[in-house]
Amino acid sequence: MDAKRLAIVVGASSGIGAETARILAGQYEVLLVARRADRLRALADEIGGEFVAADVTSAEDMRRLGEIVRERGRGPGLVVYSAGVMRPSPVHRTGVEDWDHVLSVNLRGAFLLARELIPVLEPGSRIVLVSSVAADKGQPNLSAYAASKAGLERFAESLAAELEPKGVAVHVVAPGPTATPLLDLPGTSPFQLEAVRVAEVVDWLSRLPTDVVIKKITLRAPVKGPFAREGHDR
Ligand SMILES: NC(=O)c1ccc[n+]([C@@H]2O[C@H](COP(=O)([O-])OP(=O)(O)OC[C@H]3O[C@@H](n4cnc5c(N)ncnc54)[C@H](OP(=O)(O)O)[C@@H]3O)[C@@H](O)[C@H]2O)c1
Repeated sequence: MDAKRLAIVVGASSGIGAETARILAGQYEVLLVARRADRLRALADEIGGEFVAADVTSAEDMRRLGEIVRERGRGPGLVVYSAGVMRPSPVHRTGVEDWDHVLSVNLRGAFLLARELIPVLEPGSRIVLVSSVAADKGQPNLSAYAASKAGLERFAESLAAELEPKGVAVHVVAPGPTATPLLDLPGTSPFQLEAVRVAEVVDWLSRLPTDVVIKKITLRAPVKGPFAREGHDR
């Protein structure tokens, strides 16, 4: 039997990334990435994976991650980028540091990671970028977040145009509001997806042949009625 291929899950210490790592562990050797080493260690022990504590906003950390992957000899079969932060606030009260941080984690980090890993991606491998329904529609208090996710989706299109001819698939998965620590805020809608639903979609994508082009999958949160939706879309 073939050895399991490597899946790298970035943002694996919590929420959607952690559920995705759990579900992928049956099919792949999983390498968990995020900043909180204690949480990564606990999950790695649970699912039998490995971890690298790294900050996606650091070009140096992403270079180190690239080196660790190159040393393994074979590139990953799957890369999932699920690192993200939100920091909601109206534009006039958004600090420059907060704006830069949201753009840096949600968008720049995906670029830093991709530029390190692309050289080791073989035909038949794939990248999944976790976006949000906020990419499609600007909303109050979410200017930085919505801009970062819209940027991530345009970045994904460019990445796909460069990588599909090399046999590497690129997908965007855009969930609606999902019950994770990111949404642990006052006033959020009680109608939320379970993180495992998003993980199941990533798992499903990972089983398709890479010549099947699925640019984007959107997951709607449950609604209680057609006109009764509360809160914002994340
Ligand atoms: N929850 C929602 O309603 C929702 C809806 C649509 C899309 N999304 C997207 O889904 C993705 C996962 O979010 P989640 O809901 O699962 O939130 P979460 O539970 O807060 O998880 C966020 C993950 O991002 C990691 N992260 C944050 N900053 C990082 C950094 N500088 N370097 C490395 N990792 C970093 C965190 O790890 P560390 O803190 O340990 O670094 C954590 O693992 C995000 O891209 C989010 O925008 C979420």
